[in-house]
Amino acid sequence: MKIGIFGGAFDPVHKEHVNICVWAKRQFDLDKVIVIPSGVSPHKSSVGLTADAHHGLEMAKIAFSAHEGVTVSDYEIKKPGPSYTYLTLRHFRQLYPNDKLFFIMGGDSFAGFLSWKKPGAILSECSLIVCGREGFDLSDAAQEVEERFGKRALFCSYRGKKVSSTAIKVFLEFGVDVSEYLDEGVLRYIKRHNLYSNYRFYIDRLKRMLSEKRYVHTIFTVIKALELARRVGCDLKKTFIAAALHDCTKKLSDEKLRELGFVLAVDVPEAAAHSVSGSFIARTIFKVKDRDILNSIRYHTTGRPGMSLLEKVIYVADCIEETRNYEGVEELRKAVEEDFEKGFLMCMELTMNQLMEDDCKRPVSDLTFKAFEYYKELERKA
Ligand SMILES: [Fe+2]
Ligand SMILES: [Fe+2]
Repeated sequence: MKIGIFGGAFDPVHKEHVNICVWAKRQFDLDKVIVIPSGVSPHKSSVGLTADAHHGLEMAKIAFSAHEGVTVSDYEIKKPGPSYTYLTLRHFRQLYPNDKLFFIMGGDSFAGFLSWKKPGAILSECSLIVCGREGFDLSDAAQEVEERFGKRALFCSYRGKKVSSTAIKVFLEFGVDVSEYLDEGVLRYIKRHNLYSNYRFYIDRLKRMLSEKRYVHTIFTVIKALELARRVGCDLKKTFIAAALHDCTKKLSDEKLRELGFVLAVDVPEAAAHSVSGSFIARTIFKVKDRDILNSIRYHTTGRPGMSLLEKVIYVADCIEETRNYEGVEELRKAVEEDFEKGFLMCMELTMNQLMEDDCKRPVSDLTFKAFEYYKELERKA
């Protein structure tokens, strides 16, 4: 028998997961596929917006229920400790000693496959079926795997769409319609169990405070900030709150802010005013006590010397989130992708140049000059 094993957090399971599984089963003529939602995944650095593992299992059961020959296993959920794929495969090898095993994975996972625990042990138990996606080149990764282990990955002819679980979770938190990505039954399950609604306190208030355009920008800043935070190792909850609130006062008039007890110092340039008032409102209205979150809001326009990692993450996410389309933004995205610190400095440089071009209307804050000099000096010394 040919058996496919399809693992993942399924947090939440989305339509692309189902497409990958169904397509792989059909193309490689698999007799069955066992879907295995993970318990504690060693590839996730922090829980953040994650639903409990048993919800991942239930959602997977709903999403795959209509597909013949696809079953959902609770093996990893019930097993204590982290779910390493090589151990899971060893378990299923014992259950099916005479069958051919195939491990099905998305292109993103395959790109990082060599950093998984014991990739050689995985490949000794099974063949890999990889589902790439449009515009995502996996030939280097495939060559490296083949050179190191002498085993060629099988490629699915299905080209998936780019769907990010993080983005879906953020959309759910912000009340955005996600029916395009999720099965109806899964959506009903999420609503019934109130999943991915950890930040209502902030979002209900924010919705009333922001214009529609600013609300959309905020959502995409949160998504980008979470991606960066996961990469550089920032706390995901703090990142969510800081990114969600970073522009919270953008639409509030000076009069309204005065009513709320905020008085702006005279030497703060107009472009930076909303970050100063934003930090104040985050503390007073949103009850944020964490200094790092407040500073990330406070310095998201000007920057400053000696920024924390979270401050940099919010600064960069605000500059390059997906809806930004100013000239040069693509170069910034690429630079950040390659090297976060270098990309951060480029964001700062471009922002400063833009402000200087626009000098009469929006004077550059002294803090921005000092911050830029500080980081340029650090770069020179490095
Ligand atoms: Fe802002
Ligand atoms: Fe912003």
